Amino acid sequence: MSSIDAHEWNRLANLINLLADGAHHSGEELGEHLGISRAAVWKYIKRLEELGLQLESVKGKGYCLLGSIELLDEKIIHQHLDAEIKTTLRSISIFPEIESTNGYLLKQADIDFHLCLAERQTAGRGRRGRPWISPFARNIYFSLGWRSNSGISALKGLSLLVGCAVIRVLRKIGLQKPGLKWPNDILASEKKLAGILVEIRGDLAGECELVIGIGLNYQMQGAVIDEITQPWIDLSELARVEGVSLPTRNELVAALISELLSMLKQYEHLGFVAYKSEWESSHLYQDKQVELLMGSSSLTGTCLGIDEEGALILRDAEHQIHYLHGGEMSLRSQS
Ligand code: BTN
Repeated sequence: MSSIDAHEWNRLANLINLLADGAHHSGEELGEHLGISRAAVWKYIKRLEELGLQLESVKGKGYCLLGSIELLDEKIIHQHLDAEIKTTLRSISIFPEIESTNGYLLKQADIDFHLCLAERQTAGRGRRGRPWISPFARNIYFSLGWRSNSGISALKGLSLLVGCAVIRVLRKIGLQKPGLKWPNDILASEKKLAGILVEIRGDLAGECELVIGIGLNYQMQGAVIDEITQPWIDLSELARVEGVSLPTRNELVAALISELLSMLKQYEHLGFVAYKSEWESSHLYQDKQVELLMGSSSLTGTCLGIDEEGALILRDAEHQIHYLHGGEMSLRSQS
């Protein structure tokens, strides 16, 4: 699929905004609004379909977008930030399409408190080198740059803290089902709802910069979702099941950045220990039998929680206690 240039995005975004009310609009009407021919409208409609949006075309009535949509919008995000967060956050960059929001920030010179969002990622990155499939305009792809002067050893538990921030936002909406799987997966009904990828550059012993990436499934749609190999769930399904009304993507981005920035501030002073019990209270495997896969070996035992640095504590059948510090592990529930 060809990439979206600025001119094309201008047209596509205007077209999406015209169709966002969910009503039917004739090609003629759309063309008049956009200052283009009906044939050009048809071309842009095809492009939206190619990007994964579902549209209906009814003879005599026109085109209609299936499912509500609100494009990411810096102004709306800003409106939902309080004064302190507005001054902390240095910039918001929103792309219609990008390889990876994490990758973008990692290439920029100054990334401290810069937020990067995209409607679609063409090479979204997941943990363990996996792709993060990123359908257009339906989910949240969020990366925040953050500088630390204390070196990597002072950043223990950081990615677990990010999980706590996402859970806080989801609880405030009223969702009770989502929980955490160590180290930083967010699941509901044993399906993936959100993932976190923290990447680091610079001097690991001194001043280093981090990119905190969050992928949150809001309303999965589009052919690319067939490429996802693990079970997934999205917020719109959860909201239906739990009977809560969902904020828009822009409101959610504002809530995520606000929660994350205020938690990072506290974390700088107190470390992860301040969040240990909060993390455990949303831990889906707390006191459960688990199998931990580490490359070709595995470890089975009872999950006792995490320590003050975010390491997983496991008691095996011989009552030996193991402290596990991340890496290439994946956790499977046995009960
Ligand atoms: C995981 O595998 O669980 C982590 C997924 C992280 C995905 C997010 S989406 C925004 C940011 N940009 C990326 O390329 N990846 C992260």
